[in-house]
Amino acid sequence: MVHAVVGAQFGDEGKGKMVDYFAVQADMVIRYQGGGNAGHTIVNEYGKFALHLVPSGIFNPKTVCVLGTGVVIHPMNLVKELRTLQEAGISTDQLVISERAHLVLPYHVWQDRYEEQVRFAKVGTTLQGIGPAYQDKTGRFGIQMGEMLDLEHFRRRLEEAFRLKLEKMPGMRETSGSFEEMWEELMAAREVLLPHIRDTLPLVRQAVESRQNVLLEGQLGVMRDLDWGVYPFVTSSNPISGFTSVGAGIPPTAIRRVTGITKAYTTAVGEGPFPTELHDAVGEHLRDRGGEYGATTGRPRRCGWLDLPSLRYGAWLNGYTDLALMKLDVLSGLEEIRVCTGYALDGQVHDLPLPAHRLEKAVPVYDTLPGWHEDVSNCRSFHDLPANAQAYVQYVERQVGVPVKYVSVGPERSQTIVRS
Ligand code: IMP
Repeated sequence: MVHAVVGAQFGDEGKGKMVDYFAVQADMVIRYQGGGNAGHTIVNEYGKFALHLVPSGIFNPKTVCVLGTGVVIHPMNLVKELRTLQEAGISTDQLVISERAHLVLPYHVWQDRYEEQVRFAKVGTTLQGIGPAYQDKTGRFGIQMGEMLDLEHFRRRLEEAFRLKLEKMPGMRETSGSFEEMWEELMAAREVLLPHIRDTLPLVRQAVESRQNVLLEGQLGVMRDLDWGVYPFVTSSNPISGFTSVGAGIPPTAIRRVTGITKAYTTAVGEGPFPTELHDAVGEHLRDRGGEYGATTGRPRRCGWLDLPSLRYGAWLNGYTDLALMKLDVLSGLEEIRVCTGYALDGQVHDLPLPAHRLEKAVPVYDTLPGWHEDVSNCRSFHDLPANAQAYVQYVERQVGVPVKYVSVGPERSQTIVRS
């Protein structure tokens, strides 16, 4: 069965934990978009990891982990990540990299910084070179992983790309490294990555046709989708489930299940509208109790109440068959819990989509629910939860119109309540 796991908010919802949870029974996990901007935090018997590029199925030695064609890869950073995993005793042999995935190169990282400096309104990117790498991909200047196989060809392509970058951004000459430095680093990374690079389509096709369990691991969430998110404060790829087909190489009709991952509240890193953001003690409570600091950049995350318009919007765009409600434990101790049901703007109540510059001005309309004080991190069944916590979960699924099948009450795999 093909099962997509996608972000229902601004990213950081806990997709890593849930993919790790589902991966125990997966034959294959495929990352289909994004790159090292991801920070999928996983806590399991091997320790605590923040995966950036490697699919979250890597901890199961029987799971083939694919970096699909829609992903962009910084080779040196990927090698570092593989080393960290190997040092913790985890085999990375089952990693397969699409020959069509694009390279993120040092000049993309430079360009990301440069563009953030000169922009009128900063996006607040992770400065990992993701946007510039996708720009080159669509501009047909990009270089694919498979091009590394033929050294002579690769060098020619890279020289051309480097020359063009310097022509477009002369400032790069002074502050970024030389071509030869980049070449040397790439050659070292190439040694490690070469055995993993291949045409992934036959492998993926075989897995789908033989009805294996295939997990599609999204990065970020619908609100940062290039087309449907709060443009321009978005990433440069499409996290929504429709893109799994493109980025993994799977027919849309093969996708049977889409699990939307949402926190029990909302967080975001980076700039742009976030109507339910809190700048008060409740916001602090969520940040402290939730450990809300970026896994890739360490930035404190912006925190706020749950936002139903974005969940309903995502339910349409992604076609959720079920939801996982994460970090319910973080809400313990709040007297009351508010949930945004719509946005007041120009005398009307709106739903999404709204253009970012209008959403900036929107005032959330709230429902207020009673909170609970009990620690729920040891609850293992839905009926163990305090009545108000159960009511909160039921309220969310009623409002979104999608069953909440999983409730997460802590970072460990075992801290996951499955509802039948
Ligand atoms: P970029 O993907 O680095 O270009 O950043 C674009 C937007 O997506 C910015 O708002 C980032 O903060 C946000 N973003 C990128 N990756 C992540 C992530 O893994 N978690 C949360 N936000 C992210």
